[in-house]
Amino acid sequence: MFTPQVSANQPDSVYLFSYAEANGAGGLKLAWSPDAQNWTQLNSGNSVVNSDFGPWGRMKKCFRPHLVQTVSDGKWHCTWHLSADGDGMAYVDSPDLMYWNPQLYFPADKLSSYAPKGAVHPTKHIDAKIGSKTQTGYSQRVPYSLIEGLIRFSDQRAYRAAQYDERLQDVYALAPFEATLTVHTDSTKTISDKLIGIFFEDINYGADGGLYAELVQNRDFEYAPGDNHHAKWSPSTAWTALSGSDSVALSIDTILPLHANNPHYALLHAGTAITNAGYDGIVLRKGERYRFSFFGRSAAKGASDVEVSLIGKDGKVLAQKKFKVSSKNWKKFSSTFVPSADADQASIRLAASGADAAVDMISLFPVNTFKNRENGLRADLAQTLADLHPRFVRFPGGCVAHGDGIDNIYDWKGSVGPLESRKPLRNLWNYHQTRGLGYFEYFQFCEDIGAEPLPVLAAGVPCQNSGTPGHHSHDHVTSYGQQDGIPMDEMDEYIQDVLDLIEYANGDPRTSRWARMRAEAGHPKPFNLKYIGIGNEDMITEPFEKRFAMIADAVKARYPEIKIVGTVGPFYEGTDYTRGWEFATEQNLPLVDEHYYVSPGWMINNNHFYDSYDRSKPHVYLGEYAAHIPGRHSTLETALCEAAYLTGVERNGDVVEMTSYAPLLAKEGHTQWRPDLIYFNNTEIKPTTSYFVQQLYGQNSGNTYVNSTLELSDKSAYAAKSVLASVLHGETEDSYILKLVNLTPAEVDTHINLDNVNLNGYRALQTQLSGDIASKDVKPVSSEYTVTTPGMKLNLPARSFTVIRLIKQ
Ligand code: AHR
Repeated sequence: MFTPQVSANQPDSVYLFSYAEANGAGGLKLAWSPDAQNWTQLNSGNSVVNSDFGPWGRMKKCFRPHLVQTVSDGKWHCTWHLSADGDGMAYVDSPDLMYWNPQLYFPADKLSSYAPKGAVHPTKHIDAKIGSKTQTGYSQRVPYSLIEGLIRFSDQRAYRAAQYDERLQDVYALAPFEATLTVHTDSTKTISDKLIGIFFEDINYGADGGLYAELVQNRDFEYAPGDNHHAKWSPSTAWTALSGSDSVALSIDTILPLHANNPHYALLHAGTAITNAGYDGIVLRKGERYRFSFFGRSAAKGASDVEVSLIGKDGKVLAQKKFKVSSKNWKKFSSTFVPSADADQASIRLAASGADAAVDMISLFPVNTFKNRENGLRADLAQTLADLHPRFVRFPGGCVAHGDGIDNIYDWKGSVGPLESRKPLRNLWNYHQTRGLGYFEYFQFCEDIGAEPLPVLAAGVPCQNSGTPGHHSHDHVTSYGQQDGIPMDEMDEYIQDVLDLIEYANGDPRTSRWARMRAEAGHPKPFNLKYIGIGNEDMITEPFEKRFAMIADAVKARYPEIKIVGTVGPFYEGTDYTRGWEFATEQNLPLVDEHYYVSPGWMINNNHFYDSYDRSKPHVYLGEYAAHIPGRHSTLETALCEAAYLTGVERNGDVVEMTSYAPLLAKEGHTQWRPDLIYFNNTEIKPTTSYFVQQLYGQNSGNTYVNSTLELSDKSAYAAKSVLASVLHGETEDSYILKLVNLTPAEVDTHINLDNVNLNGYRALQTQLSGDIASKDVKPVSSEYTVTTPGMKLNLPARSFTVIRLIKQ
């Protein structure tokens, strides 16, 4: 905080004008004037606080703000309307007009409850000419020192913003220089052995149509109109029906469903056929085995012959089988198909003859899934994740975890059990979740790749950007966003769900109903769950804190061994970050989940971000981060900045315990968010250069950090932030792992010396990423050699990331 000095030739008091744009865009703005006539905008005309109410776009508006200051304590209080004519209002306060406390939302008839206690300095409702526009707002007298402080604050922000706009191509054009890295082999500290993990969210078709190997789209006829805002989906989406060669409407029924959670099914009339082309076509490989299954029951007198065919794009039948459906009750039919040829755009067709049949859960899976699990994961994609060597997996979101409105909160119980009984869920990324990839499969995947599971559950509040009101909503607009939270009289049930999850993962099937369910699904042994995330970058508000504390108290009391991971908002600063950290500290949490998607310049200028973090407070899980450039592409530049930033994270691996880049997966043609770590389509996997950075860190981790000194012949600040290093001692062998980043456009001649270690004879395994910083396709290049000198000399290529594992032979 600033303590502004007022010099003799400055006015003692001036006018402060507070206002918002008439259309509610932006938030509270400020201007000042010595005479209440000529106004100068503060904060470069940007708002000083924005409304965080409801979804983006039509909400998050600020109309008719009224800013006042209490006389007794000098605190600022602002109320505003959330819409032009609705009755929703917001309140926020601030000690200094710079830091703002959490916002509160309420109906206008409750305004008196939010009025500041005690006298306030007088304000006057006026019109003021700000720039070229006349704005309506409130003016009041304030000491000039306040304005001076605000100007300094805004200047500081502008300076930081300029730093964060720095890009490699314009700032780091330095003349070549030399570096000497001295590794102090006797000076070490223990760091986390779980530093690199992955965050899996069903975004960008990451699960259905992605990692989940099911080849039939909308297999259960449960797509619903609300799933996709643009396309008006329905139970017949992705299916076509034919009678002879004529297109007909697909008959969907709900009278005698397979399961209450799966109410729709198709009626396959005799003489008709239904076809599904999967997610952008079904990929089949000649000679491979595919598991086919469906549920059927006869829907008319007599038996129905259902002929199932796998068909290539050219109409050629690649495999075919017949099933007799004669029972009045639902029955599961299964078989294995082996296509006679390769096809990338195949479809599956079911044709009925004899009598009508009801069909549901029409499923086709490669037998060759990751680890050959039934209901498993796409082998190539899962292997690409395993190759990162992640130490943990956070799932199922992100925003998907806390959902769009209370009814969209991801309920883990709806994602386990027999597939036909799972509850499909609207995906807030504008599609549909079958939840065939559910909690059981997530736990199984973690076990299969040797990673700790880190499930994230909503903190009793949905996403702050929710566009759906809570089901206990009031008539007024304040029911949007997270503010209603789960009603208090339903919290016990919600908390029980959280506790049941721990039982599901770790309990004893002999005594726990939930553990029995896990055993019935094929995993009698516990999954050994150690972490649980509560909340996802929520607004740290009263409703959040109340519910979070209730959940955390219950978990701590019943399962003190479980590490609770809290949340501190979506940014590296601001209200949710500050209050989130205070709250997490009050709650005595072991870990909090920080998120920030930032510019390359932010990463370059914040390598020391964690150096000053208080080690006695909760530790950090950097759960979502990535470098973003305009256009949101993943390039060598973004990858190098992430690599550079991670040197600082490794250095602080005693306080940062875990990190995960986000988002992880994106299917081409179905991408809601960029950049992502791995792009894919039905036949190809396309890891980004950021993927290789993660992989190099994941595959070259260790829990002993070795201090080192990097001396550069160029002593400028630019040089200091352009060459970075981090050194670890290997976990399993007598080795040192060196990670070196050169952001400059020139080679850096680097001398490497290890205190008291003669490197002569050490084997060096070296991997390097380098090239054009705009390239989206840089791949690692590996080499192996034996060091023949006591120290090492290495040319760090321009714009490069080098990892060397030095192994004593
Ligand atoms: O990673 C994409 C989204 O970013 C996550 O769902 C959310 O947590 C964050 O806002």
